[in-house]
Amino acid sequence: MKIKKVFITGGAGYIGSVTAEELLKKGIEVVIYDNLSTGHKDAIPKEASFIKGDLEDYDLIRKSLKNEKPQAVIHFAGNALVGESMEKPEKYFKNNVGNGINLLNAMVEADIKKIIFSSTCAIFGIPKTLPIKEDAPKNPTNPYGESKLIFEQILKWYNKIHRLNFISLRYFNAAGASLNYGEDHNPETHLIPIVLDVALGKREYIEIFGNDYDTFDGTCIRDYIHIIDLANAHILALESDIESDFFNMGNGKGYSVLEIIEAVKKVTGKEIKTIFGKRREGDPPALIGSSEKIKKVLKWSPIYHDIESIVKSAWEWKLKFPDGYFL
Ligand code: UFG
Repeated sequence: MKIKKVFITGGAGYIGSVTAEELLKKGIEVVIYDNLSTGHKDAIPKEASFIKGDLEDYDLIRKSLKNEKPQAVIHFAGNALVGESMEKPEKYFKNNVGNGINLLNAMVEADIKKIIFSSTCAIFGIPKTLPIKEDAPKNPTNPYGESKLIFEQILKWYNKIHRLNFISLRYFNAAGASLNYGEDHNPETHLIPIVLDVALGKREYIEIFGNDYDTFDGTCIRDYIHIIDLANAHILALESDIESDFFNMGNGKGYSVLEIIEAVKKVTGKEIKTIFGKRREGDPPALIGSSEKIKKVLKWSPIYHDIESIVKSAWEWKLKFPDGYFL
């Protein structure tokens, strides 16, 4: 399908900004809809149009879609912190499910037939086998994963009833940066930016959450995918002619927390002070997604394979923007 204009919810966020940048490079028009609650004004590419809005505001989302007439929506907006979701489940069900339904209803009213949904492999919970394939049992261990799983079910029904086509992409740890856009959360809870802050001298040490896991070095293993590879997967999904489907994504190889710290040491040339703390609640020992299906069906082929090149891009961005975005 030839796409000329895309509407991106959460386009001022980490993954949204880089996806907008990649779409613009391809000459596709981009409209960003974001309430800036976690996103940044400075993360919005200059060539994109911007509507400051909340998905709770049904009238605004409906009007925006009717005025802009995009051919498709990429839906990133939502909350994505596992720990927070255990404390505030209502926030996750309201924003990720309730407000998501507003978006779908507005799409139906505006007759927009395609949505790419930024889902998560957290819908699977603690996997029995690795890498995790699409048909693995889905037992989320936190409200965040559950809210995304519920929304995937809702997508299936909107497809059946309203002929709204969807592609749901499930991934884990987005990492790295483009030349212009990178990771800036407040507060920052993610491993790579925190270790880079230690390298920058902005933090004294990194606390490793548990070294008694059943993994080769005792620390948790995660699947880190470069943000540009993720952005490209969203674009392939957008341009694909397949009706509706779910795809898991992974980098093919997991890295332990200690391996990430080693990679940061190598890339930055800095010493990193570490302390071992207790396990973080809800952390599964090892998570790796299978990208067999997305490679076969959507012809996704990641550019960044090794962790050092991923960390290097994040480091270069940190050096340019040590305090993150201004606005
Ligand atoms: N970690 C530490 N110390 C820190 C921060 C993280 O040891 O200061 C460890 C975590 O325990 C985990 C690993 O580093 O083992 C990665 O943690 P992140 O917080 O960077 O990422 P998560 O794996 O927790 O979260 C990612 C995505 C979420 C998604 C989740 C699904 O960022 O959006 O995977 O499980 F929901």
